[in-house]
Amino acid sequence: MEDSNNHVASRRSFLRFLAGSPLLALCDPTGSLDALIGTGSQKPTGWSADEPSTQKLITSPDQALNVFDLEAAARQVVPIAHWGYMATGVDDDVTLRANRTAFSRFQIRPRRLIDVTRTDTSTEIFGVKWKTPIIISPVGSQRAFHTQGEIATAKAAGSRGHLQILSTVTTTSVEDVTAARGGPVWYQLYPTASWNITQTLIKRAEAAGSPVLVVTVDLPAGRNTETLSRARLMDPRNCADCHQPGLAGRLKRRPMFDKLDLTGLVDYYAPALTWDSIRRMKDMTKMKLVLKGIVTREDAELCVERGVDGIIVSNHGGRAEESGRSTIECLPEVIEAVGGKIPVLIDGGFRRGTDIFKALALGAKAVCIGRPYIWGLGAFGQPGVERVLDILRVELELIMKQAGVLSLDQIKRSYVVESSR
Ligand code: FNR
Repeated sequence: MEDSNNHVASRRSFLRFLAGSPLLALCDPTGSLDALIGTGSQKPTGWSADEPSTQKLITSPDQALNVFDLEAAARQVVPIAHWGYMATGVDDDVTLRANRTAFSRFQIRPRRLIDVTRTDTSTEIFGVKWKTPIIISPVGSQRAFHTQGEIATAKAAGSRGHLQILSTVTTTSVEDVTAARGGPVWYQLYPTASWNITQTLIKRAEAAGSPVLVVTVDLPAGRNTETLSRARLMDPRNCADCHQPGLAGRLKRRPMFDKLDLTGLVDYYAPALTWDSIRRMKDMTKMKLVLKGIVTREDAELCVERGVDGIIVSNHGGRAEESGRSTIECLPEVIEAVGGKIPVLIDGGFRRGTDIFKALALGAKAVCIGRPYIWGLGAFGQPGVERVLDILRVELELIMKQAGVLSLDQIKRSYVVESSR
């Protein structure tokens, strides 16, 4: 046992030495630690063969040609352990990569000779009109990427008119984020194994004006984030300076848990969560209830049967189970099962306007994005998030014009074809 501890300690100090060594830059043209992190599809600009590249780092948000430019810029300033938390998938990161690569299975069928001078990207969800179908996914711990964290994201969402979903493990309270957003946000819930905590969180979000409760159902029992673990080993800083052990330690600086009694809880996972728990939540709140993490026809049918108000097709950005299946491939069976009765949203791997177009054509009502806005946040704070949102909106509008559609409801199934190649 002692031998193995010594082995881990010396491996850790070797990796730290390597992290600071100019030798590594010789092996890795970006001067980064991608080779060891191995996230594949998440390579910064200049790395992957399938993404366009400016081969040059940007120094201000307006220089970004696409969201990958902001990824490369963020990579330079976000500490490696925090980068690992953002970039990680699970096990071999197969699902993470599938979320990107699967878009190439669907191709767009553009129509010609249609007057596209005016296009309209607005949509309505639960009776509220939004000028864009691009939504900000819940991402926890945003102060790990920028000192302004969720406040910067909220201000960007407000200035650009995007719907924002706030994580349970936010580093800023739902009240402060709502104020910064200048309007309500949807609240994402990790129910935890304690009904008291679940109830308190739901009531607090409702009191803050959140109209929709998004219950994440894809993390019942933990996960194996190896890429994050490797990145932690490479961080020369002492993680224990900020991160204390145990659940209470992990929930420090998570204001939604301030003053809550965590006795008996070991994590915020809820292994005993069932459809009955969902019914109890529905019974105690006036908020609409959306389930995030539904990926099968069977569960989509149950959502409709059990009175769930909406679905987010999601595999947590490849961070839940290593299913190997992308969300864009899960979408058609969920859409078919729901039969238009409730709105279906989707996230996972969306990096281009054309990706968003494909999901809308397959029947999604809106598309949520995770990592790209975190790249913008890490690189430049609020203006970085705004740039990501601007790029994606402009790209979506461009492909709509190119495909000959004037509004989102015209983006029908016939605009994409699925190939087996
Ligand atoms: C997440 N995600 C997430 N989901 C959730 O329901 N609650 C949360 O607190 C978090 N936290 C979180 C942190 C980080 C760093 C990432 C990258 C993701 C998942 C997120 O909401 C979304 O499902 C994915 O990020 C979408 O995939 P892309 O866009 O990142 O590929």
